[in-house]
Amino acid sequence: MPEEEPLLYLLRRQKGYISGRTLAKETGISTNGVAKRIKILRQYGYYIESSPKMGYRLAGGTDLPLPWELVKVLDTLVIGKDKIIYRHSVESTQNLAISLAEEDPSIDGTVIIAEQQVSGRGRVNRKWLSPKGGIWLSVILRPPIPASNITILPFAAALAVCDSIKKTTPLNPKVRWPNDIMIEGKKVAGILIDISMGAGRFNYAVIGIGINVNIDSLAMSSNLERHIKVTSLSDELGHKMSILGLTKEILERLEYYHIQLKNSIPHTIIEQWKKNSDIILQKVEVIHNDWTIEGVVLDVNDDGSLLVRTDVCDNIKVVAGDVRVTY
Ligand code: BTN
Repeated sequence: MPEEEPLLYLLRRQKGYISGRTLAKETGISTNGVAKRIKILRQYGYYIESSPKMGYRLAGGTDLPLPWELVKVLDTLVIGKDKIIYRHSVESTQNLAISLAEEDPSIDGTVIIAEQQVSGRGRVNRKWLSPKGGIWLSVILRPPIPASNITILPFAAALAVCDSIKKTTPLNPKVRWPNDIMIEGKKVAGILIDISMGAGRFNYAVIGIGINVNIDSLAMSSNLERHIKVTSLSDELGHKMSILGLTKEILERLEYYHIQLKNSIPHTIIEQWKKNSDIILQKVEVIHNDWTIEGVVLDVNDDGSLLVRTDVCDNIKVVAGDVRVTY
């Protein structure tokens, strides 16, 4: 709970103007202190009107996924229940999550969210541009997910994002192997998973989710792999949408798939993933470092690998790379 919470509480309760003096009296803060804290609340996205004669009025809530706003609406038992950490700016939520998980072996379900990242990381060490207006978050998870299900985690995370976009917008996102989320063939979100293994079991996994929500995608074109086009939800919708609402959905959906993974049913998740994918039986190029395989996607195996038929080979099992549909 932020320091500002007593002020927020009073502003909410008042439903109209409340003087700086009354706020100071009821919170025990000086009037100067109240003015400073009002400024901080505004930085958090709260719309607070002020009038020299009447004081302050809360005219609108925030849409930032702030911990104290998220916990009010979040319906989960593990993810985000232990702790939600919010930063206006961070190097990378993923790196911060990894250092927290290394420091404290007891944390599980902790969520780290940033308004912007200055050194966001994508897969295979790509740079991930993360300006204000996106969802940039990382979740720390620990066993009891069986180690054998770990390769399915990226698929579960991609599905959670895909389901959440479907629930909160009229858009029709698709998952693209291994773990991109596409709209009309353009990438709107990506997943990065970092795993720490030890003695035959995994210590922790950090699921990183990046979504271009209310962002001008023209400014994001340098974000990604050269062969993939980029979009944002606001560009597809033609208007901005709620970041707080979408974040809640994603965390709840992630918890749903997390429970499935704990119960050891990768097949169900892969089947669900395939239903939401646009690559099965499509002609594709799979690009990895300096090689490219051209062929038709036959299937995705229960371990998450891709089965491709090429001109020279009936079945090639691919475990890494980026897929481009060639039609
Ligand atoms: C990809 O290459 O498609 C994966 C992109 C993952 C980006 C997210 S944003 C939150 C988290 N923090 C990072 O630095 N990266 C991930």
